[in-house]
Amino acid sequence: MRPLQSAAADPLHGTIPVPGDKSISHRALLLGAMAIGETEIAGLLEGDDVRRTAAALRILGVEITTDDENVWRVSGVGVGGFAEPDDVLDFGNSGTGARLLAGLLATHPFTSFLTGDVSLRRRPMGRIVRPLTSMGARFISRSGLRLPMAVIGAATPVPIAYTLPVASAQVKSAVLLAGLNAPATTRVVEPTPTRDHTERLLRYFGVSVRVDETPDGGRIIDLDGQPEITARKVSVPGDPSSAAFPALAAVLVPGSDLTLRGLGTNPLRTGFYATLEEMGAVLDWQNPREEGGEPVADLRVKASSLVAVEVPGSRAPAMIDEYPILAVAAAAAKGTTVLNGLGELRVKESDRLAAIADGLRACGIEVEEGQDRLAIHGTAGRLPGGGCVRTQMDHRIAMAFLTFGMASERPVQVDDGGMIETSFPGFVDRMNGIGAQIAGAGKKA
Ligand code: S3P
Repeated sequence: MRPLQSAAADPLHGTIPVPGDKSISHRALLLGAMAIGETEIAGLLEGDDVRRTAAALRILGVEITTDDENVWRVSGVGVGGFAEPDDVLDFGNSGTGARLLAGLLATHPFTSFLTGDVSLRRRPMGRIVRPLTSMGARFISRSGLRLPMAVIGAATPVPIAYTLPVASAQVKSAVLLAGLNAPATTRVVEPTPTRDHTERLLRYFGVSVRVDETPDGGRIIDLDGQPEITARKVSVPGDPSSAAFPALAAVLVPGSDLTLRGLGTNPLRTGFYATLEEMGAVLDWQNPREEGGEPVADLRVKASSLVAVEVPGSRAPAMIDEYPILAVAAAAAKGTTVLNGLGELRVKESDRLAAIADGLRACGIEVEEGQDRLAIHGTAGRLPGGGCVRTQMDHRIAMAFLTFGMASERPVQVDDGGMIETSFPGFVDRMNGIGAQIAGAGKKA
């Protein structure tokens, strides 16, 4: 346990880079592994989650090296080229690593054993087991279809057409990645579009992926299997989910003027920023450009006051990881903010809906918690604070409430900031470097 305390920050100033996008980092390693030749990745997120994916790939026979300049090199083994792992693949805290790699393993003809930390071992795997079973893989898991789990890959994979029962980019990606080593066309239909990094990166690597819109706003994705993938240079954009913490801190701490450099602006990831603008924040997007098939820009944020809004459930997939930090925005806004369609938060790194509600209450905010919604009564700027928040092994709960403390009257403690390393290595130093006052709290457990 690494308890931390965040006290009122000085105005945030400066220009800072944003850590590499976690979703794209996992995918860059996985596609680099499936390519022929050496894929060079710049800007990879060097957090624990992504390192676990790299470690798992090494056990599967993929050579991966890195240098002091944060350039990673992956010597690909080609589609279907993994070697049977002689050890358990441990994904730590990472649902993305476990589910996406399980997709690739489902169409490799050998058995792999997957596990993770206490948090990941609680999370549902049935959502990938069901479609991957129809592709010919078999699974042996703990009760409730949870890790640890053995994946017995299909010797003769079958392509499928699969309609996502939950809006999940991880499930979509698991099926598409399994489809890489299946003959003919694998189809995924998503009634509500989710982050499309897998599709974009597959295309960037030259794989034939067709995306059609349905009349009601969904997407049909067709992937032609068994391609020969050629290695490429990939530049990973900054993570809009990680940037959300310093961005909101700059909105809330009076006198701030902060620029975040190089963050991804994929429209399927920017629901938080759209919501923040609706709440009254002034966001200045500068230098729009493209990197590795993804849109990128710099973001200048100045302090401003916020008003409450009602956020429709339809926006959830475009901001699914940002509800903890949006809840902090809501706590500071004038009026009651209502967040709808939050069911998926129950199965994240923690039961995030409950963790947000408990954390807000611990910090003096009134909140009503429904099965899949939250109503947060804002204080119109003056955040109370003073509480100790239980992070429940959830990096985003930790960072959200440390951000709360930056703008509150009394300091906020989090019981464990250790998990922050999974997605935002160096968060504390980086935030302190621009004006935050975050330090260790109490005795280390
Ligand atoms: C991710 C998809 C989302 C998100 C997670 C990363 C991805 O999960 O919450 O942090 O990289 O595909 P779901 O697919 O479970 O919604």
